[in-house]
Parts: sequence; C-alpha cells; structure tokens
Amino acid sequence: MTDSTKQDKHTVVVIDDLPSNLLYFNDALTRFGYAAITAENGKQGLEKINIVHPDLILTDVNMPEMDGYQLCEAVKGNPATEDIPIILVTAQDDRDSLIRGLSIGADDFLIKPVNPSELQARVRNLLLIKDYRDHMKRYTAELETQVSLRTQELNQAFEELKQVNLQLKESTLDTIRRLSTAAEHRDTDTGAHIWRMSQYAQAIANEMKLPSDTVDNILYASPMHDVGKIATPDHILLKPSKLTKEEWSVMEEHTFIGEQILSGSAQPLLVMAGEIACGHHEKWDGSGYPRGLSNENIPLAARITAVADVFDALTTKRVYKDAWTTEKAFEYIKNQSGSHFDPACADAFLKNRSGIVNIQQTGPDQDH
Ligand SMILES: [Fe+2]
Ligand SMILES: [Fe+2]
Repeated sequence: MTDSTKQDKHTVVVIDDLPSNLLYFNDALTRFGYAAITAENGKQGLEKINIVHPDLILTDVNMPEMDGYQLCEAVKGNPATEDIPIILVTAQDDRDSLIRGLSIGADDFLIKPVNPSELQARVRNLLLIKDYRDHMKRYTAELETQVSLRTQELNQAFEELKQVNLQLKESTLDTIRRLSTAAEHRDTDTGAHIWRMSQYAQAIANEMKLPSDTVDNILYASPMHDVGKIATPDHILLKPSKLTKEEWSVMEEHTFIGEQILSGSAQPLLVMAGEIACGHHEKWDGSGYPRGLSNENIPLAARITAVADVFDALTTKRVYKDAWTTEKAFEYIKNQSGSHFDPACADAFLKNRSGIVNIQQTGPDQDH
C-alpha cells in the first residue's frame, strides 16, 4: 500500500482495520487524484492526522482499540483538527448510528459496500466545502491583520495629532502669557501678579465646581485682564499720586481697549478673555466700570477674576501703596461680598483659604 504525499494534492487519511478495505480506498482515492495515507486502527490514524493535518478523514466505524466514533470525538475536540471533515464508513445503515455520528461531528456517511462513484462525489463535495472554509479563514485572518495594522496606524496618527495639539495649545498659552506679561510689566514690574491671580481665579472656579473646560479657560484667560493697559499712557499708569477725574477716565479705558483687542475671535478662550478684560472692574452692586453692570449681568469669569485680581493687588506692593497683610485682605474680600464681589465667588475664595495662601507662598519670584 502506497502513501502518497504530494503537496498540490488533497490529502485523505483512510482508517480501516481490514487490509482489503484499505487497499480498495487507497486505489480509488489515488485514481481520483488524491494523496491517500492509510492507518489500520483509530489510534494509529489519530497519530497520523495530528502530524499531517489532512484535508479529509475517511474512517471505518467498527474497529478495535479506538472506534470511528471515538476517533471522530478526538478530532473534533482538538482545535487544531476540528475543521477537518470526516466521513464515517459503516455497515449499519440504521438511523440511531447515523444520528450518533452526526451528533459527535461527523460530516457525512458512506454505507458499505461503498460505490466508487458515490465515494468520489462525497469526497469531492466535502473537499470543496473544506477549500472554501480554508479560503474564508485565510481571508478573515488577512482582514484581521489589515484591520489591526490600520488600527495601529490610526492610533499612532491620533497620538501624533494629540501631541501636535498639545504643542499648539502650549505655544498659544506661551504667547498669551508673554502678551499678558508685556501689558502687566508696565505697572506692576512683574509677571508674578498674573501668575498668582490666575491661580487664585482657577482655585475659585474649582471651588465653585465649574466644568473643567471652563476652569481651564479661566486659568488661561484671566492673565489677559489688563491687556488693554498697553494703550494707557505712562504718566497715568505709573502716577504715584491720586489720579484726576480725566486721568481716571483714561485709565478706565483699558477695559474697553482690552475687549477690543480680544474681540472677534471664535475661540472660547479669547471670547472669555474679552469678557474678563471688559468686566473685571465691574462690581456686583452696579457701582463698577466701564458699563456699571450688576449681579449676573457681569460675566461669571469676570466676577471670579475680580476677586482674584483685587486680592493679589491688595497683598502686593504697588507704586501707590504698600502690601496689605493676608489677614486684612481676606477681611476685605469678606466685607465686600455682595457689594464689590459676587457673594458666590467671594465665598468660594474664602472657603479655600489654605489653597489661596499656598498659591501666595509658592508663586514665582517678584523679579520673574
Ligand atoms: Fe484692570
Ligand atoms: Fe491685575
């Protein structure tokens, strides 16, 4: 008996304990163009199946040691061989045997004596199905590989985009900081004021449980509150003595000028910065400037900034005044709650006293 193992042929493992049957199947399958590998019992057959992974198994049912049903269960129970179609060859054409065979995974039956044309037709049909399944499996695996590759590429592109966005955001914030510092340098000699007041504003917004996007925007927009001072003449901005009425009205213009500088953008950050620039000197009771707005007519970000800005102005030395003690400044915020300041913003500020003091003590150096 010859075992043929040509690569381009379908391989069929034939298992039967009767040498005459093996000879018959071997000859027939070879004649049909298949490579046949024979085994004399189920155990030997299973060993060969696990080694060669044939395209089809043709097995007798009644055999010593391991019968056709047991072999079928072993092949179908192993993920490496479960897809190999099995034809059970049986002398029993009773219904129960056929149902038992099907229930343990057999794909087809041949009843002895086996007719060569029927053998050829059944083998060919099962091999066609097997080829199609193999093709789909390879196709699916290839698709999965491609999807996984594309997903990796997309993730990488997304990561790069995130980095670019972060860099873009960082460079925008850097520009904002530099511009704000430029305006601030003209009267406070320091960028430390805008650092501290923006931290205070962020702390208030956090204490008020505002959405994190809004908190971020307050942190980054509040440093621009006095950007309009770029246009305020030095003799007014740096005057150590009391301003005249006319000088005050020029000074108050920095709110409108800041609003103009920041207006017209679609960026929420700059829209908020414009509201803060114009609204940070408004007062809750309507006695502020430039528009004399009151209560909730003053944008929330401006109400928050007002508390932060005034507290830092009070606790630092300016050309026209000495620094107040922290205690006295806290007292001022408390007393002005409901008149100068929105009570909700003042409360949030006073509630987080330790956080505020911490910012005050850890800020950048005055000669920043
Ligand atoms: Fe201002
Ligand atoms: Fe300020």
